[in-house]
Amino acid sequence: MSETGFEGIAVDALDEAGAAAELARLAALIHRANTAYHTEDAPEISDAAYDAAKARNAAIEARFPGLKRADSPSDVVGAATAEGFGKVTHAVRMLSLANAFDANELADFDAGVRNFLGLEKAAPLAYTGEPKIDGLSLSLRYENGVLVQAATRGDGEVGENVTANARTIAEIPQEIAGAPALLEVRGEVYMGHEDFAALNARQAAEGGKTFANPRNAAAGSLRQLDATITARRPLKFFAYAWGALSEPLAETQSEAIARLHAFGFTTNPLTRRCESLEEMRAHYAEIEAQRATLPYDIDGVVFKVDDLALQARLGFRSTTPRWAIAHKFPAEKAWTCLEGIDIQVGRTGALSPVARLRPVTVGGVVVSNATLHNEDYIAGRDSKGEPIRGGKDIRIGDWVEVYRAGDVIPKVADVDLSKRPEGSEPYRFPETCPDCGSEAVREAGDSVRRCTGGLICPAQAVEKLKHFVSRGAFDIEGLGAKQIEMFYADEVLPIREPAEIFTLQVRDAATVSKLANRDGWGETSARKLFAAIEERRRIELRRLIFALGIRHVGEVVAGDLARHYGSWAAFSHAVDLAGPAGQRHLAAEAAVREEREAAAADGRRARVSETEAAAWAAEPAVPAEAKAAWDELVGIDGIGAAAATALVAAFHQPAERASIDRLAGALEVIDAARPATEGSPVAGKTLVFTGTLEKMTRAEAKARAEALGAKVAGSVSAKTDLLIAGPGAGSKAKKAAELGVETIDEDGWLALIGEG
Ligand code: IVH
Repeated sequence: MSETGFEGIAVDALDEAGAAAELARLAALIHRANTAYHTEDAPEISDAAYDAAKARNAAIEARFPGLKRADSPSDVVGAATAEGFGKVTHAVRMLSLANAFDANELADFDAGVRNFLGLEKAAPLAYTGEPKIDGLSLSLRYENGVLVQAATRGDGEVGENVTANARTIAEIPQEIAGAPALLEVRGEVYMGHEDFAALNARQAAEGGKTFANPRNAAAGSLRQLDATITARRPLKFFAYAWGALSEPLAETQSEAIARLHAFGFTTNPLTRRCESLEEMRAHYAEIEAQRATLPYDIDGVVFKVDDLALQARLGFRSTTPRWAIAHKFPAEKAWTCLEGIDIQVGRTGALSPVARLRPVTVGGVVVSNATLHNEDYIAGRDSKGEPIRGGKDIRIGDWVEVYRAGDVIPKVADVDLSKRPEGSEPYRFPETCPDCGSEAVREAGDSVRRCTGGLICPAQAVEKLKHFVSRGAFDIEGLGAKQIEMFYADEVLPIREPAEIFTLQVRDAATVSKLANRDGWGETSARKLFAAIEERRRIELRRLIFALGIRHVGEVVAGDLARHYGSWAAFSHAVDLAGPAGQRHLAAEAAVREEREAAAADGRRARVSETEAAAWAAEPAVPAEAKAAWDELVGIDGIGAAAATALVAAFHQPAERASIDRLAGALEVIDAARPATEGSPVAGKTLVFTGTLEKMTRAEAKARAEALGAKVAGSVSAKTDLLIAGPGAGSKAKKAAELGVETIDEDGWLALIGEG
C-alpha cells in the first residue's frame, strides 16, 4: 500500500480502459463523499482517503485528458448551497487547494512552479508554510473598514450569506482601521478541541444532536438559520487569505498576513517563511510533530509562493491556484468485517461493487461502506492480470483494512487472511445487470463490466436523469436525485428521459392526479418546480452539452466544445458531419490493436502508422467533409479521440439521437459567450506556440493566451490564426508559411499583448 493509501494499479501502468474504469469509480466515490461532507455534514470517509482519491483522479486525467468524465470531480470545488440562506456570488472565486501527499509530490510542486516561471532549480524562491486548518472557509467583506457581509465557500462561485452568524464570532472584527476601502478577508472558521468536547457534552445532556468531529460541529454551528444558536457555539477564526481588494495589501504573502494581523485578525502563529525545499520539509515535520498537542484539528501544511507578483503570474487552474499546495498528513486506517457486496449500476452501465462494512470509526468518522472498484480488484489483480495486495482476493466475511483521511469515499486497503472464515468462497461478480437483468459484458481491455441494457435499463436511465439535473448541468431547483427517482417510478406523470421534464407541467394540467395532491407535494412546491423547470428552458450551450451525459464529455470538455462551436446548431451539425470519420477512427483503432497483438505474437515490431493509414484509405471512402469535421473536432484543445468518438457514437445511435432531438426541440439554447476579454487582441483566435520562448515559459504563454480569450492549439492547420515562433521553430513554421498563417516572434507576441 502506497503512502497515499492507494494500493490500486499505479497510474503509469493503467491502460485506457483501466483508466476510464478508475475515473468512473473515483467520480462516484468523490461525489458521494462530497455530499456526505458538505451537504449532510456527516463525512463517511477520511480526508486522507478523499484527498488520495482526488489526487489519483487528477493524475489519471492528466495522463488521459480525453477520458475526463462529464462528472469529473476535479471540476467541482465543494457542494451546492443548502436552501435557507441567501446566496452570495463571490467577487473573486473561492478556490480549493491541490494536494501533495509526500515529500516527492511537494518537490514536484516546487519544480512545477519553477518550470512555469522559468526559474532554475537553484534560483531563490520563497514560500510561506502554515497549518491547514480543518474547518470551513469563510469570506468576510469589509467596506470602508466595516464588516458588511460574510459568505461561506459554497461551490466556490456562489456561497451562503451567513453575515448574522459571522457577527457572533468574537475573533471576527466588526470594524477594522487602516484597511483598504474594499477588503475581503478569507480564512477558516473552526472549533477547538476543548470547546468541541464541551459542546458535545452539552448537546448530549440536552438530548440534542452530537457532532462527529470539530469540523462538522463548526459547519453545523455556523450554518444555523437562527444566529442566536451560532452565538452560543464557541467558533474561532484564522485569517490566511483575501479576495477582492481596492488596493494591494502588500508585496508578499508574509507581509499581507502581517497586515491582516495588524487589522486585528488572528493569524496562525505557526506560519513561517521557507527559503528552500529543505526548509519546507522541515517545517512540515515540525508542524506534524506538534499536531497531536495543538488545540485544534489540522490536516496538513499549506505552502504558498511568497512573492505576490509571482503568484499573479502563476495564476489558477480551473479550481486551484498554481502557487499553493496543501501537503497533507497521511490517511488513517482501521480493520473491520466485510458484511456484503452490493453492485451499483452507473449512468454508462458500469457495474460498481460497493463493500458493505460493519461500521467502524476511522479518523473520527463512522465508515459503513467502501468502494471495491471492479471485479479484478476484488479478485486481487489489476487490469493487466498482475497481482495486487499480493494477489489476495476479497471475500464476504473477510476482515478488511479500510482507510479514510478526512473527506470522502473510503477504500479497502488490505485483507487479513488469517481471519478468513472457513469455507468462504471467492466472490462471484454478476454477469447480468442486477437492475434490468440484461447481460453485463466486459469488452476487451475494459476492467469494467457494463450492463448492455442501454436505454431499457432503469438504473442507467435514472442515473442519466440524475446527471441531467445535477449542478453543472440543468441544475433545476427542487428536482434532485430523490425527486428524479420518484418521477421515474411515477405511473401518471413519469419522467423517463430529459425531454419529459419539459412536458411535466402540461401533462400535469391534463391529468386529474395532480402533482400538488401527491404525498410530500403541495400547490406551492408544485408551482415552484414548474417555475424552476421553465427557468431552465433557456439553457447555456455548455450546460446542455454536459447534461447529455456522454462518456468523456465532462464540464470542461463541454465548455471547450461550446466555446468552439458557439451554437447548438453548429455543434450538432459538426458532430453529425463527423460521424462517418468517427466510425473510421474506431475501425482504425481496432485494426491497430489487432496489429499490435499480432506483432507481439510474432515477436516483430507493430506497423502502426501503415495499419492506420490503410484503415483510413479503405472503401467506402470517408467523405472529405466528414474527415474535415472530425479533424476539427479532435483538433480542439482539450478534446481527445475518446470524447470525440463517444459524441459521434451517441449522435448516431438512433434511439439516443431521437431522445436528444426531443430535448433540444423543447429548449432555447443560449449561444456560448466569448470569454470576457473585451479589447483583447487575441480573443477568439487560435494560436500555436512553437520553438523556444525566452521571456515566458510555454506553460505561462499558454495560460496568458487563454486568459485573453484565445484558443491554443498544438498543431498548425488552416484554422490557425497566428503562429508564435521562437528560435528553433521547425516544421510548424514551415507549415504556417505554406498555409499563409501569420507568424510573429516572441517580442511580437509580447507587444501584441501589451507587455513588449
Ligand atoms: S489558502 C486559493 N490556507 O483548505 C487558496 N486554505 O483545501 C485559498 N484551508 O478552501 C486557500 N487552512 O478552506 C488556505 N492555511 C490555509 C488553510 C486553508 C485551511 C482550507 C480552505 C480551503 C481548503 C482547500
